[in-house]
Amino acid sequence: MKKVYKAHILYTKERSCFEVLENGYIAVDDNGRVIGVATDLASLGCEDAEVTDFGDRLLIPAMNDLHVHAPQYRNQGIAMDLELLPWLQSYTFPEEMKYADTGYAERMYRRFVRDLWRFGTMRACVFATIHTESTRVLMRLFQEAGMGALVGKVGMNRNCPEGLTEQVEEMVRGYEELANDECPPLVRTIITPRFIPSCTPEMLRACGELAVKYQLPVQSHLSENKDEIAWVQELEPESSCYGDAYDRYGLFGQTPTVMAHCVWSDGEEVELMKRRGVMVAHCPTSNFNVASGMAPIRHFLDEGLHVGLGSDISGGHDLSIFRMMVYAIQVSKMHYQQNHELPFLTLSETFWMATKSAGSFFGRVGSFEPGYEFDALVIDDSDLNHDNYSLLERLERYIYLGDDRQITHRFCCGKAITEPKIII
Ligand code: GUN
Ligand code: FE
Repeated sequence: MKKVYKAHILYTKERSCFEVLENGYIAVDDNGRVIGVATDLASLGCEDAEVTDFGDRLLIPAMNDLHVHAPQYRNQGIAMDLELLPWLQSYTFPEEMKYADTGYAERMYRRFVRDLWRFGTMRACVFATIHTESTRVLMRLFQEAGMGALVGKVGMNRNCPEGLTEQVEEMVRGYEELANDECPPLVRTIITPRFIPSCTPEMLRACGELAVKYQLPVQSHLSENKDEIAWVQELEPESSCYGDAYDRYGLFGQTPTVMAHCVWSDGEEVELMKRRGVMVAHCPTSNFNVASGMAPIRHFLDEGLHVGLGSDISGGHDLSIFRMMVYAIQVSKMHYQQNHELPFLTLSETFWMATKSAGSFFGRVGSFEPGYEFDALVIDDSDLNHDNYSLLERLERYIYLGDDRQITHRFCCGKAITEPKIII
């Protein structure tokens, strides 16, 4: 049965502007795909369809988080006093070691999935840990919730504590198990070498081979911090830039690839990303908290790179992708203060990054154009809408001022998604 919803519909087909349908209709087919949007039922060919009327609420595409570490959820909002490399050693690795225990993993991961749901994130590109069983738990929880995720068991075998190291053969076996697990299409595994300093050349090579063999996407970190970049140059002296170090192991666009941060990517690295279609996950709060720097997102967009937003918990402290839009705009304004040749980001550009652009990593996701999977949020902003605001102003106020309390309905691939259970 096809379904029709009525509300004020806002989305971005292109990054430069919003599509706005006041009292619009959206029709969704049996496979959860958008048939079309219109302001009358006749042009959708749906005169007889039963309409779910959301009244004066806003209907927008759901959020996509392109980079987040589920096992760092306990550390959210703490441990902000170090830069990246000592931060990993002091706070992050000790927490991730605990995920050898699948009971601990399930308790924490349930909370994590529930809170993604809360903030309207229906798809996420997630780092788990080296532990295959705990990674499987996380994949199961996303499946049970009905939410979409690419979940990466993390590759690590050097420069990390003994308890967070895995032999290459063991890693390969773990990935093969996860790749062969029966999974509904919304949840898949993703090849996830943590970053060059954590993986020996043998491990990086094995990751590249796995990606091609099982046609799996790849995620990692790139050019986040200056000490990290210098270290990568020492470890991979033949490489011409950090991105080239990944490329040499088949981990830079040989299959769909997303790299987090790219704060210091320039010249040759940007060219290589363009050539290989490597996507950028921009994580502004993480870049503030671990004092990495300001990623030149306007420059990346001008260069034609594909950019999405990531919360990067727990380098980032905020799971809301709405809030990430605000931070992305604010950091671009600071960047603008230093370099007036790069105009700051607009609301439609950041909304597009969070929806259609990031969504492209998961398939046809993030827009309401025909054929897109219906991932959507219904927003009741009546408590924020106390004067004659336009629909676009209402959306802007929700992005800046709203939170999970105003989200009344969530859909992923056409299905209404209810609150996932946590263990108290
Ligand atoms: N680089 C390698 N691992 C990490 C991590 O866990 N968080 C961030 N922000 N950067 C990383
Ligand atoms: Fe990260």
